[in-house]
Amino acid sequence: MTAEFYRIKRLPPYVFAEVNAMKAKARAAGEDIIDLGMGNPDLPTPPHIVEKLVETVRNPHTHGYSQSRGIPGLRKALAAYYKRRFDVTLDPEKEVIVTLGSKEGLANLAQAITAPGDTILVPNPSYPIHAYGFIIAGATIRHLPMHGIDFMEVLERAVRHSVPKPIALVLNYPSNPTAEVVGLDFYAKVVDFCRKHGVYILSDLAYSEIYFDENNPPPSILEVPGAKDVAIEFTSMSKTYSMAGWRIGFAAGSPDLVAALTRVKSYLDYGAFTPIQVAATAALNGPQDCIVEARKIYKSRRDVLVSGLANAGWTIPVPAATMFAWAPLPPGWEHLGSLEFSKLLLTHAKVAVSPGVGFGEYGDGFVRIAIVENEHRIRQAIRNIKKFLASRDEILGNKKAAS
Ligand SMILES: Cc1ncc(COP(=O)(O)O)c(C=O)c1O
Repeated sequence: MTAEFYRIKRLPPYVFAEVNAMKAKARAAGEDIIDLGMGNPDLPTPPHIVEKLVETVRNPHTHGYSQSRGIPGLRKALAAYYKRRFDVTLDPEKEVIVTLGSKEGLANLAQAITAPGDTILVPNPSYPIHAYGFIIAGATIRHLPMHGIDFMEVLERAVRHSVPKPIALVLNYPSNPTAEVVGLDFYAKVVDFCRKHGVYILSDLAYSEIYFDENNPPPSILEVPGAKDVAIEFTSMSKTYSMAGWRIGFAAGSPDLVAALTRVKSYLDYGAFTPIQVAATAALNGPQDCIVEARKIYKSRRDVLVSGLANAGWTIPVPAATMFAWAPLPPGWEHLGSLEFSKLLLTHAKVAVSPGVGFGEYGDGFVRIAIVENEHRIRQAIRNIKKFLASRDEILGNKKAAS
C-alpha cells in the first residue's frame, strides 16, 4: 500500500502554510500580529443581505436540497447584473451557473474539460487555483511570466511552441496578486487570437467591483463580440458584498463550458443552501450603495498604506484595483527572497504579508499586502515596518551570525 497518491504528489506544500504557522504560534504566545496576509475581507456583509438570509432560513421549505446549478432567481439576477454593469446579455438557462464560490467553479470546470496531459496556459504569478485546479485535473501547465512582458507576444509564443496545442488560457484582471488591470482592447485581442486558435478562455473577474478609478471600472471579457464562443467568466459575491464565507460565485458565458460545468456539478453537489442563494439574489437585485461604501474604505486604506510605506522608505506601485498591493522587496532586502523577507517581517515587525513566491516562481521578489485591517491597524503596521526597515543592518547581521 502506498501513501504516495498521484494527485497529492503534484501539490507542493502550501508556501503560505509556513508563514501561517508562524503567525498562529506568535498569536498563541500573546503577540499582536497585524494580518495583511490573506485576502479575507474584514468588512461585514451588508445588513439587508444578512436579514434576507435570516428571514429565508425561517421558512422550512428552504431546508432541503437546492439546485446544483443554482436557483432560477439567482441566475436571472446575475444576468441582470451583467446587463446593467457591462451591457452583456446572458441567457440564465444556458449561459449562467451558480457555484460554491468562484474557486469551486474554477476547479470543477478544470475537471470537466481536461484530459490528462492537456496543456493549459496560466499566468505566473497567479491565484493558486488557476494552476492547481488544472494540475489536480491532470493537466500540464505552461506558465506565462507576467512581469515586464508583452502579453500577446508571450501568448503567441506559448501557443506556437506547445505540443499538443493548449486547450485553455486563464486570465485574471484585476489580478490577484499583482493588482494589474486591463481594458477592453486587451480582451478583444485575446479573444480574437483564441477564437482563431481554438483555445478556451477562463476569465476570473472576482474583483469586478473593487476598483478605485470611478471612471474606469474593470470590463468583462464577455463585452467583446463573439467572446461567448470561447470564454467563460467567473464572478463572486465574496469581495463585492464581503460574503467570502458564504461561498457563492458564478460562471457565465460559453454555453458549452457552462454545460460542462453543470454536468460535473450535478454529480458532485446539490447547490448552495437555498437561503444563501435567496440572500445572494437580494444582494444583486437590491441597493448597491454598500459596494460604493466598501470601495471608499478600501481606497482610503490603500492610500494610507502606499503613502505610509513611501514615508518609511518603501515605495510601491499604487494598486488601481483589488484589496492588494503588490510590493517589490524594499531596497537592500531583495537577496532574501519573498519567503525569508516575510518571515523576518512577521518576527520583527509583527506584520503578516503573503510571500510572492506562493503565487508562483515569478512572484518571488515581491510580497502581497492585503488591506484587510482598518486604517488604524494599517498605520500601526507602517510604524512597525518603518522601525524594521531602519534596523536592517542589525536584523540581517543577527541573521548572518545565527546561520
Ligand atoms: C482572483 C481570485 N479568484 C477567486 C477567488 C476565490 O473567490 P471565491 O470566494 O468566490 O471562491 C479569489 C479569492 O481570494 C481570488 O482572489
